[in-house]
Amino acid sequence: MRPEEITTIFGNNASNGAPEGERSETTVAASVRSVSKKFKKTVVLEDIDFDIAEGESLVLLGASGSGKTTILRIIAGLEEPDTGRVILHGKDVTELPARERGVGVIFQNYALFPRMTVERNIGYGMRIRHRPRKEIRKKVGELIELVGLEEHRKKYPSQLSGGQQQRVAIARTLAYKPQVLLFDEPFGALDAQTRVRLRREIRALLKRINVPSLFITHDQEEALELGDRIAVLNAGRLEQIGTPDEVYNRPETEYVATFLGAANLLLGVVSRGDVEIGTAIIPAPVETARFREGQAIKLVFRPEDVYISRTGELPDGCRRLTNGVIEEIRFVGAYERLTLRLDLVARQPAEGEPVLYNVALAGREKRTGVPIVATRPKPEANANLLTVGDRVAVGLTAFRVLANYALASERAGRLVDTSKRR
Ligand SMILES: Nc1ncnc2c1ncn2[C@@H]1O[C@H](COP(=O)(O)OP(=O)(O)OP(=O)(O)O)[C@@H](O)[C@H]1O
Ligand SMILES: [Mg+2]
Repeated sequence: MRPEEITTIFGNNASNGAPEGERSETTVAASVRSVSKKFKKTVVLEDIDFDIAEGESLVLLGASGSGKTTILRIIAGLEEPDTGRVILHGKDVTELPARERGVGVIFQNYALFPRMTVERNIGYGMRIRHRPRKEIRKKVGELIELVGLEEHRKKYPSQLSGGQQQRVAIARTLAYKPQVLLFDEPFGALDAQTRVRLRREIRALLKRINVPSLFITHDQEEALELGDRIAVLNAGRLEQIGTPDEVYNRPETEYVATFLGAANLLLGVVSRGDVEIGTAIIPAPVETARFREGQAIKLVFRPEDVYISRTGELPDGCRRLTNGVIEEIRFVGAYERLTLRLDLVARQPAEGEPVLYNVALAGREKRTGVPIVATRPKPEANANLLTVGDRVAVGLTAFRVLANYALASERAGRLVDTSKRR
């Protein structure tokens, strides 16, 4: 299908919407402004703020119960926020009923009509709106082609695979010419391989039709692959919103760092442009600039950013942390995963001072040294063989320095006292 044909299906989104002056930025397709929501006394969403740009796909990532579906339902008009506004294409739709919002929602259990063929499922919305038969036939044909189901048009849902059913659900939603698409765990019911294939297909489809979309998932890989940007939700609060590269490589909180992939955490203090971790010191003038001298911080780094050297030599740009001993080696498909025990002796804490470092590894008895996890891609693992017990120098090619609030107190300023609110 050619782009101009797609435009006939969807109209030109960019020109749809509010009169000029009303939009602060022509590129914003949907905005959620200071949305809060309580169910009884439980705060489920707190002060949620984000925009979706025209043609953008934004992924909302968060653990189960973090409030993802509630945000989606509020945008769709299926749930009312306690405070805040929903703005779609420059128009405040907060008071508007769901059917007048121009929002298409695709849920995980995409409930197709079982007694209708693929064609009739897709044309359903146009039929109940009494569109001319010729128009319906043409649009249905275009949509079937768009989602690649030409061979299956006469089949019933029970004769389709999960991925095919999902594509019917998407085509059926697109028939309504939505101005914004919302997907709630759209691949949840599918096997791993189909998930990967379908999410690539859908990403390509969305790029072609240029409809802004919001995806919900709790799968980090899916988020990284589908999203132009990712918003990380933690217990009803947005922790960070940014490109996949930003949230993965420059996480702003411990939650984001550990929710999106594996991360090692070492507690340290800032000392004259260095990070001091027990007896080890790693230079970090840029990373520590926003902290005060002596401030407790967390050094956060990904397993793939650990460089291990038997000779003690480290490549340019890699900063030496300390030495360590290889404790465990495992092959995990495309890479090798190692557990190392770092030579970090605790600096004696002053009275009342917390322990200076710690590491987030479950189920390991405390021995001397601090365990971290490192990964190496296969070529490197094969070129530089390591064995358990090897003593190595350990450097970091990338890391983040975050303020050290314990996880619970990180949220202290944000904990909601419902008695004080409205
Ligand atoms: N209608 C409701 N009444 C009361 N509580 C609700 C209601 N809907 C949702 N909740 C609660 O709000 C919280 C957020 O729910 P929500 O469905 O938004 O989570 P989610 O992030 O979509 O989770 P999941 O990944 O499991 O789908 C949950 O604690 C849930 O129990
Ligand atoms: Mg949900």
